[in-house]
Amino acid sequence: MPNPFEEPTSTGALDPAANPFRPGMGRVPPDFGGREPALRRAKVAVDRLARCAAPPPVLYRGVRGVGKTALLAYVRQQAEHLGVHTIAVEADRGDKDLAAARETLRRGAADVAHDADEAVLRRCASLRRGRDGTIEARSTGTAAATIERIVADLGLLGAALGRGILLTVDEVQEAEQSLLKPLLRAAHLASQQDRPLGVLLSGLPSAAETLFDEGQTYTERLERLELGLLDHDGTVEAIRRPFEREADALVDDHVLDLVHEESGGYPWFVQLWGAALWDNARAPDRIGLADARTAGVEVHERVQAFFADRWRRVPSGRGTLLAVALAEQGGDTEMGDLTEVLDLTHQALSPARRDLVERGLCWAPARGRLAFTVPGFAEWIGRARPDRT
Ligand SMILES: Nc1ncnc2c1ncn2[C@@H]1O[C@H](COP(=O)(O)OP(=O)(O)O)[C@@H](O)[C@H]1O
Ligand SMILES: [Mg+2]
Repeated sequence: MPNPFEEPTSTGALDPAANPFRPGMGRVPPDFGGREPALRRAKVAVDRLARCAAPPPVLYRGVRGVGKTALLAYVRQQAEHLGVHTIAVEADRGDKDLAAARETLRRGAADVAHDADEAVLRRCASLRRGRDGTIEARSTGTAAATIERIVADLGLLGAALGRGILLTVDEVQEAEQSLLKPLLRAAHLASQQDRPLGVLLSGLPSAAETLFDEGQTYTERLERLELGLLDHDGTVEAIRRPFEREADALVDDHVLDLVHEESGGYPWFVQLWGAALWDNARAPDRIGLADARTAGVEVHERVQAFFADRWRRVPSGRGTLLAVALAEQGGDTEMGDLTEVLDLTHQALSPARRDLVERGLCWAPARGRLAFTVPGFAEWIGRARPDRT
């Protein structure tokens, strides 16, 4: 057996260690295909913070795997480059006391407060300097009240120190009333006082909908941006640019068409394709259909395993019935069609429907519709018929 350290064994023409593609949850892709409006919105927020002004809050929504976490991570990197302080919170349904979120916020606030003098610190309701000089949390009321105070203090500290602060909160659907609400309320007050605190949020497609329905003032300025599947140009950008920049290699148009077709523009699949094309490239300067065929075998395996894994999350009983019926209808249809096919009432199907949505397997692209979140899942169910095995 040859030793890979002594002689190159890679079959590809491009160095696999230099592979720029990033298939994996929350990983920043080498290029964001088709996300110009979303990135532009974030850039305005970051630029305002860099000038120590208050930007309006933004909420990015989309199904799992469209790139919300990666987008927030990328924007935080850019913000840090411009001297903006960033804090990343992830909401978690299990976190009933908001302990983790509170701790992340407190630590973030303490970092900023380090440079503040006593007079400023005294104005902070949630912080104080301990005996040994470190910044401690003041004990306050409920978890929600504490969150609200810390976020308010972040605005105050930013203004006092002349420093922009960017707060990102991922998976907001997990804690809308307990975390998102107090946080938005505090951020809203901060922006009225033009304090340099920016808030970028992300969540599933219907995240924060109840807060919008409640029509509170703090949601008035909250801008919603829906992140969907990539269109053809988006997929092309996400694949072509990294090859061009990192390897000076050209990707054939047929390959780009094929990747879009096969991935359905689902960003995670697009990254899988990019990574496999790179590893299987036969020539260092051109990616052709022969490379795509080899890469396709690799991608296909990963995607099949991914679908099989998703299927394991489909609840048994009516959940399975509903998923199979949805697959037979092509993966995106009116709930009315499904009740008819299954000969069940809306009411009878509603718990199964909710279960599928909560597990991230389905979503409602419009009122009264149900669809799978990942392209290709309906076809996979049709072929594999996992309910019969
Ligand atoms: N615009 C994009 N173009 C190409 N790939 C992307 C894009 N956005 C995200 N990705 C990739 O998609 C995958 C899923 O991203 P992630 O941020 O985890 O999605 P989400 O948080 O919405 O579930 C990652 O591999 C990421 O690199
Ligand atoms: Mg995510």
